[in-house]
Amino acid sequence: VDELDVDALRAWILDVPNFPSAGVLFRDVTPMLADAEAFGRCIDALAAPWQDAGVEAVCGIESRGFIFGAALARRLEVGFVPLRKPGKLPPPLVEVEYALEYGRDRLQARSGILDGGLRTLIVDDVLATGGTLAAAHELVTRLGGLTVGAGVVIELSALGGRARWPRELPLRALLDY
Ligand code: PRP
Ligand code: MG
Repeated sequence: VDELDVDALRAWILDVPNFPSAGVLFRDVTPMLADAEAFGRCIDALAAPWQDAGVEAVCGIESRGFIFGAALARRLEVGFVPLRKPGKLPPPLVEVEYALEYGRDRLQARSGILDGGLRTLIVDDVLATGGTLAAAHELVTRLGGLTVGAGVVIELSALGGRARWPRELPLRALLDY
């Protein structure tokens, strides 16, 4: 997938001012998901850097990370593990608590599901402040997995989230905003 093809995806991502709250510029990927060619190109581009990375599992972060993560897992021909918000999965669970801009949240997954150091790729739609992705890495570790890297569709680089991701692990973003 060449750079130009990836950059063309911007045409399917809408800017929505003042959503979900005043002053926030929301990047809406739903038009891209609805277009067969654009969605396919997005998943191909997300997969490209990891083709020879020996990925054994993809973890997607609830909720928007599920959409890209599950498609990417199929593309890489590996299994999919959902990292979920509290109260959705039955026990036995492992969880990580993390800070949001206001308050705290948690991510949970099935205990031991990545046991044996399963080589895991973490996927989400957006990297903003980086708290969510850092928590996902922590959770993968507690689940017995080995994080090989992370892939996101959009990086909001002005928010500096990349600084919270371990320097030694690759973090690939398709589009920088
Ligand atoms: C959004 C987005 C990322 C996260 C990024 O999810 O989908 O998961 O925020 O933010 P951060 O880098 O500052 O942690 P949100 O929690 O709003 O929920 P959603 O995916 O269910 O819409
Ligand atoms: Mg999210």
